[in-house]
Amino acid sequence: MNNFWTKLPKPIIALAPMAGVTDTAFRQLCKAYGADVIYTEFASVDALVYENKKTKEFIGYDPAEQPVVCQIFGKKPEHFFKAVKVLEEMGFAGIDLNFGCPAYKVVRNGGGVTLMRDLPLCYELVQAACEGTKLPISIKIRASIKKQNAGVVTALDLVDKIKALPVSTIMIHARSYEQPFDGEPNLNVVAEVRKIWSGILLTNGGIYTPENAKEVLEATRADGVGIARGAWGKPWFFEQIKQYLTTGSYKTPDWTAIKQVMLKHAEIALQSKGEYGLIELRKHLSWYVKGFAGASQIRTQLVHIKTLEEIKNILTVNFN
Ligand SMILES: Cc1cc2nc3c(=O)[nH]c(=O)nc-3n(C[C@H](O)[C@H](O)[C@H](O)COP(=O)(O)O)c2cc1C
Repeated sequence: MNNFWTKLPKPIIALAPMAGVTDTAFRQLCKAYGADVIYTEFASVDALVYENKKTKEFIGYDPAEQPVVCQIFGKKPEHFFKAVKVLEEMGFAGIDLNFGCPAYKVVRNGGGVTLMRDLPLCYELVQAACEGTKLPISIKIRASIKKQNAGVVTALDLVDKIKALPVSTIMIHARSYEQPFDGEPNLNVVAEVRKIWSGILLTNGGIYTPENAKEVLEATRADGVGIARGAWGKPWFFEQIKQYLTTGSYKTPDWTAIKQVMLKHAEIALQSKGEYGLIELRKHLSWYVKGFAGASQIRTQLVHIKTLEEIKNILTVNFN
């Protein structure tokens, strides 16, 4: 097995998967700013098995993003077995199984985080994926989920169940299903998993400053972090974390530098997906200007852009 995970320098700073956000243009920028691993948005194993052309296009990536991990969701072991082969042919560096997503589209059929309530099925899915490919398999899980009747299933229970399988990496989103995106991450769960899991462990959730990254790495003894909303409008966040971990300080770009990144982002979006790339770009543009006094007016303009020229015109504004 060519396991890229074991060759990465630590701590590993990964771009976590985000449906509707981690499109190829954004991923390319995060990679250019030092993200060590890039996760795609999640893709349905069922669609991959039926060689759904749209799904394959949707998870397409640029070689500059490598190592790219494709995240998949579903609940049929036989589909995981086949889907991983499709992904291997597409040249991904690794494959991630989603056991953490609370989105209705995923959990309504018993996928994502609700799989954690059925540990034997989780075992079967991981086993099927591992048997279907030579690529390294990782899983993304949550701190815990309440059972439907009584009791709780934790990340520790799931890791204990699958730890004998050849899984390379586990990313724990350290929040419960019941507290899907807000509140303090439960770093104790990650630290407990560290005691029983000798593979690569990434902690995720609530990392919005380089200082946060250092604190969670120390508190959990994880091998790295997964960055999600912390990179919204800040693809340079990866570089800042690395700077801070090595030197104790980091630089923050000013408006002139941010404008250049926005234009670069727009050019990549246009090159990779044409006009549709600019539609995907709109929300990213609005995140770049967040926090600048007086930005609300240009944010309204940025979420309606159709051309690169329009973006350039809007960005003549000065916030410095
Ligand atoms: C818009 C959005 C989409 C997401 N999509 C996915 C996904 O496709 N797969 C997944 O495992 N997690 C997904 N997540 C969860 C993130 O990967 C991450 O675990 C979560 O946001 C916590 O990290 P944060 O506090 O740094 O944002 C998504 C989160 C957001 C905000």
